Amino acid sequence: MVKRLDGKRIMITGAAQGIGLAMAEAFAREGAALLLIDRDEALLGEATNTLRAAGARVAAVTADITDAAAIAEAVSIAGREIGGINALVNNAGVNVFAEPLASTDEEWARCFDINLKGAWNCCRAVLPGMLENGGGVILNIASTHAFTIIQHTFPYPLAKHALLGMTKSLGLEYAAKDIRVNALAPGYVATQKVIDYWNSFPDPEAAKADTMKLHPGGRIALPQEIAMAALFMISDECPFMNATCLTVDGGLSVQQHPA
Ligand SMILES: NC(=O)c1ccc[n+]([C@@H]2O[C@H](COP(=O)([O-])OP(=O)(O)OC[C@H]3O[C@@H](n4cnc5c(N)ncnc54)[C@H](O)[C@@H]3O)[C@@H](O)[C@H]2O)c1
Repeated sequence: MVKRLDGKRIMITGAAQGIGLAMAEAFAREGAALLLIDRDEALLGEATNTLRAAGARVAAVTADITDAAAIAEAVSIAGREIGGINALVNNAGVNVFAEPLASTDEEWARCFDINLKGAWNCCRAVLPGMLENGGGVILNIASTHAFTIIQHTFPYPLAKHALLGMTKSLGLEYAAKDIRVNALAPGYVATQKVIDYWNSFPDPEAAKADTMKLHPGGRIALPQEIAMAALFMISDECPFMNATCLTVDGGLSVQQHPA
């Protein structure tokens, strides 16, 4: 039976949990071979074992995306184990939230090193192979923070705005080489990252209820709902979609304000 991602060899960063793991599961079900990257060795091991037990073809490398040499090495491991990479999902990202004047240089560096430079490190590692082999696809997991701002979340949205800029820039740069570069912008998604965010408030339950109320449908996304859109964008089902961003936020970001 033909599957939607037959022939795709997809590198996913931040694949050990959350949206990254949901994408890995969805992509594997549709026939893709995977290179999973995460800096959390234990969680990555669990995810890899579960996927392999379900029959997936998976290479896994514990690496930090800020380490360009480690990422280049991971891509060469994928060359040996799954025949190279023809698709990349830049998913690893971290919240760095502060009031601007209270934020530190260390926070600024961590935010941009992971959320922007890390994604570029991965692009730089896979693009030569894509160019050599006549094409590929890159998907950057951005956020509604890539075009709207929530107060007190500085400098995270700046990095996501820049990730959207990088998407457009690389999408144009390599369009004639059959490499598509797009972004996907989730709103709130039920992952550990959001639980940690709620827990940063004095009353986490109230913070959670407030988040739900922001959404026209009264709920936030499941990671699997983001993975469904990512699967479409990484597949060959949208060959002329390039240098753009698909928002998957249940209508959150088009409201003037919640009802
Ligand atoms: N959860 C949301 O509400 C939401 C909304 C919009 C966008 N996003 C974006 O989606 C992506 C995934 O978010 P999530 O909620 O699934 O996160 P998560 O925290 O649940 O998982 C992120 C994974 O990335 C890994 N990771 C983090 N930094 C890394 C690094 N430097 N090198 C390698 N691995 C690293 C972590 O170990 C973790 O396993 C992020 O880019 C995030 O900004 C999330």
